[in-house]
Amino acid sequence: MTDAPLAVVILAAGEGTRMKSSTAKVLHPIAGVPMIGHVLSTAAALRPTRTLAVVRHQRDAVADAIAELSDGVDIVDQDDVPGTGRAVELALAALDGFDGDVVVISGDVPLLDVETLFGLLSEHREGGHSASVLSALVDDATGYGRIVRDHDGSFLKIVEHKDAAAHELDIAEINSGTYVFRAGALRDALAKVGTANAQGEKYLTDVIELLAGDGHAVGATVLVESWIVAGVNDRVQLAEVSARLNAMIVRGHQLAGVTIDDPATTWIDRAVSIEPDARILPGTFLHGATSIACCATVGPETTLRDCEVGQNATVTRTDATLAVIEANATVGPFSYLRPGTVLAEGGKIGTFVETKNSHIGRGSKVPHLSYIGDTTVGEESNIGAGTITANYDGVAKHPTSVGSHVRTGSHNVFVAPVTIADGAYTAAGTVVRRNVPAGSLAMTVGQQKNIEGWVANNRAGSAAAEAAENTKESE
Ligand code: UD1
Ligand code: CA
Repeated sequence: MTDAPLAVVILAAGEGTRMKSSTAKVLHPIAGVPMIGHVLSTAAALRPTRTLAVVRHQRDAVADAIAELSDGVDIVDQDDVPGTGRAVELALAALDGFDGDVVVISGDVPLLDVETLFGLLSEHREGGHSASVLSALVDDATGYGRIVRDHDGSFLKIVEHKDAAAHELDIAEINSGTYVFRAGALRDALAKVGTANAQGEKYLTDVIELLAGDGHAVGATVLVESWIVAGVNDRVQLAEVSARLNAMIVRGHQLAGVTIDDPATTWIDRAVSIEPDARILPGTFLHGATSIACCATVGPETTLRDCEVGQNATVTRTDATLAVIEANATVGPFSYLRPGTVLAEGGKIGTFVETKNSHIGRGSKVPHLSYIGDTTVGEESNIGAGTITANYDGVAKHPTSVGSHVRTGSHNVFVAPVTIADGAYTAAGTVVRRNVPAGSLAMTVGQQKNIEGWVANNRAGSAAAEAAENTKESE
């Protein structure tokens, strides 16, 4: 391949009307990354000299996202003239005298991969083309521009769906919106493109007919796997593309040694990492920068966002965000781990337990029906069933500190700020309002009182009274 300079232009100025969304189309997430993030990664993999993104609709939101997702992308603002042709014309103006190959891709075609683009670029360079278009044969060409060829099969022009004659609508070969152009030829042709069409837009696609008419070599390369260039224009296509990408991600993990019982109900974001011999059970959603170490089991019915799961840990029917679950720890079933939860090695967060901003030390357990917030628990301690940290006094949040080898009784309230020191115990039903010294037993003193004969006096003739009477007789 010759080493002509290469520029990539990403089109992202359109309104995305068919999404019917207040969010810009290219910012809708797919596999945890805004749609345009996938396109930016592909562009970067081509290693171009320049990358430009054309924006207009929701300009700042789109430009900010691009800056966050990728380095060194120049933003070009589209003006009042609508259309993909105008977008590229302004990008060329920003390229200021650039003479080389210009790859044009769309922000709404997220599955396009760098191998496919390299293929198009090689054909373009080897064929000495002024314009090369990636086309595809699809079952339903609705909405796409059609590739018009003469009877010899030579590529003549692209006609947009809305401008197509009835016989052109029958064409199954569509324009994918992916192109390579010689910069000079493109600049000259775009200057001649008008807006006299069904949409009143300056179409990029019109340059093909102009170039072909002027004797330039133009080519359309048919992509066999048409899903690679599926465009996202509405929410139906968004779901289709998301499912396709997810299937590829799941398969990639399977081939790398991860057991995934049910690919159809397992959703894994692009940035998630999973080590071999981990097992993912059905109905599991792994989002963001979640990482899962070797031999851990996650699921079924579990959602993890930006979580770390250590070796051999088990996470069952759990919802967790920004939590760290260390090696050999167990979580669930039915646990809710909110940001800042750290469960150290061998620890346990059990059934119907909610945690937030809390460090549960090595081997410590919160097994049942509890809320633990703004708390540190030392090592090998056990928090009794039904324990609530009262961490909020209506004004501010306060911390709770539980030491190591502590045993707290069932149905406790820890009224923060409060400390329960190493080796201490608390009795069932204790409301811990004052610090508990190391090795002490804390209990709330309120003696139990039994009023004998109360049922016979107040509930005479009831089943309870009869049962009590029978018990007395048999004593
Ligand atoms: C476009 C093509 C069509 C092709 C299809 C493939 C044209 C005229 N048509 O149609 O032949 O089959 O893509 O997916 O090019 N954009 C701008 N500025 C604008 C208008 C659009 O930057 O003024 C951007 C959009 O944000 C989008 C891309 O260009 O990323 C394509 O625009 P869209 O309106 O989706 O074009 P299609 O109708 O899909
Ligand atoms: Ca489109």
